[in-house]
Amino acid sequence: MKETVVSGIRPTGKLHLGNYFGAVSNFVKMQHEYNCYFFIADLHSLTTHPTPQDLNGYVKHVMVEYLACGIDPEAATLYVQSDVPEVAELYLYLNMNAYLGELERSASFKDKIRAHPDNVNAGLLTYPTLMAADILIHHATKVPVGKDQEQHLEMTRTFGNRFNRLYEKEYFPEAHAFSYSDKLVKVPGLDGKGKMGKSEGDANCIYLSDSPAVIRKKVSRAVTDAGPTEQNQVKPEAIQNLFDLMKIVSSADTLAHFDELYNKMAIRYGDFKKQLAEDMIIANAPILERIEGISKDTDYLRKVARNGAEKARESAQKTIREVRELIGFKPF
Ligand code: TRP
Repeated sequence: MKETVVSGIRPTGKLHLGNYFGAVSNFVKMQHEYNCYFFIADLHSLTTHPTPQDLNGYVKHVMVEYLACGIDPEAATLYVQSDVPEVAELYLYLNMNAYLGELERSASFKDKIRAHPDNVNAGLLTYPTLMAADILIHHATKVPVGKDQEQHLEMTRTFGNRFNRLYEKEYFPEAHAFSYSDKLVKVPGLDGKGKMGKSEGDANCIYLSDSPAVIRKKVSRAVTDAGPTEQNQVKPEAIQNLFDLMKIVSSADTLAHFDELYNKMAIRYGDFKKQLAEDMIIANAPILERIEGISKDTDYLRKVARNGAEKARESAQKTIREVRELIGFKPF
């Protein structure tokens, strides 16, 4: 029996190279080794009250990009969270044993209060119980997520164990964060200051849907400096970031070539950036081509969503049947 994997992606917009090399490429690898459920967390995104049009567009967008990255709906179960109402039912049961104090202590909740003090709704407070429902509904043991989700996973284990104790059965297994290597791949942005992220602005990110012209323009404007002033000097952050990006998309020879030029103080940033942009374009070309193809193919997208929902519901319905029985909802 393969172990079960669950991961959810909030539909908040376009994917960038950071999402791809940091997360999605791992999903693609995992789908052949584990029993994988990947879903689009549209219920979670309701905490910020998107318009129906925006919500629908984002969900489609994420679906297209995940497929374009290589998630194979025949290998993994790919579904939209709101297509599986059993998740909402399990969320309700878990909420009965989730305590205000522990929910309020969640770091993500505190961050949200600070950022949006005028929208502290109950959905935000119970975000961790909904996430626990996503994971427990399929009895997952592995969850490929970043460091920022570690606390949510700990809460998932707490809620699952508490359920097990209350109903005196080892029913839910414990889920743990999963990554192929100890150090997550760091994908820097173009603004010279840390990782690639949407919140740092569009110019900082290379989106998977960016055309070659847009990639060239963004890379040409990436932050650099006046150049090395000593042979073999340590590279300042902005320059090291561009080298780190080159390490991801270019060949080892290309990287070594520019590294040598830098060390000899003979590097020309214009040439360096041109090479980086071209290698990014090449690395991204197959994904971009698939994004363009798949987004036009509404029939295919509908079929994927329908089949995914069907497979996910099969597993979810089994859990709900058993949970209802354990709770005591049964015929007289
Ligand atoms: N909270 C996750 C995030 O913000 C998204 C998510 C929702 C998730 N449910 C999940 C991730 C279940 C893994 C498993 O990125």
